[in-house]
Amino acid sequence: MARRKKIYEGKAKVLYEGPEPGTFVQYFKDDATAFNAEKKAIIEGKGVLNNRLSEFFMTGLTAIGVPTHFIKRLNMREQLIRQVEIIPLEVVVRNVAAGSISKRLGIAEGTPLPRPIIEFYYKDDDLGDPIVSEEHILAFGWATHQDLDDMVALAVRVNDFMSGLLLGVGIKLVDFKIEIGRLWDNDFMRLVVADEISPDSCRLWDIKTGNKLDKDVFRQDLGDLADAYTEVAKRLGVMPTNAAQMTKPTLIN
Ligand code: TMP
Ligand code: ASP
Repeated sequence: MARRKKIYEGKAKVLYEGPEPGTFVQYFKDDATAFNAEKKAIIEGKGVLNNRLSEFFMTGLTAIGVPTHFIKRLNMREQLIRQVEIIPLEVVVRNVAAGSISKRLGIAEGTPLPRPIIEFYYKDDDLGDPIVSEEHILAFGWATHQDLDDMVALAVRVNDFMSGLLLGVGIKLVDFKIEIGRLWDNDFMRLVVADEISPDSCRLWDIKTGNKLDKDVFRQDLGDLADAYTEVAKRLGVMPTNAAQMTKPTLIN
């Protein structure tokens, strides 16, 4: 059998050619990286969890009318997605100060922000994904005025949806990152949520304890990352059993 064609390999995922034109298969790896891949590890079961969680969030977004690239989950680690043209920007929405905004502006981690703040980062690993303004985005042609309006509208809807969903299971959505792609339908283009939405790309804090349930557990060596993601999946009813265990071979006596 011919091997399927690899389109792109990133730090946490691989994209393969899909079964039909205009589709890709997105494979979730167990690789975890932080600080632009300065820190690396394999976290057994992470890919399985992120595949399921991203499916869950994207399906919910589709259900409320927010367009995404997601078509369907294929198996434990793969999902079928629509091929989109990724806009080279990371769109970050923040509800509570943490991470780089705390550092950059000297705001104590955990300070609620006066309103959700949307930021754009230029996707370029060599430059360490620098923060950019709308001026840069327009001047360098990474997106148009219309795109920016649509991206902000999408980001706000994702924030409201995710915040509500997570609040219902006792989790605070502190911040998150999305990527947005252009989906072409003949001459008609619309923007859709692409890439993934998972605890790799969000900050999630337990409302009662303040415990971190996201990739900061790995970035800051706070414990077992797969356990944290499993907790999120369990609370959302996405995965009743321990995914890390499910991927390990089981000894049958
Ligand atoms: P930051 O505080 O480091 O700027 O991160 C903001 C949010 O974006 C946080 O939820 C983590 C997410 N993020 C990514 O998904 N990928 C990245 O490369 C970075 C730097 C952050
Ligand atoms: N995703 C980025 C990296 O691999 C940064 C991060 O999430 O901290 O290195």
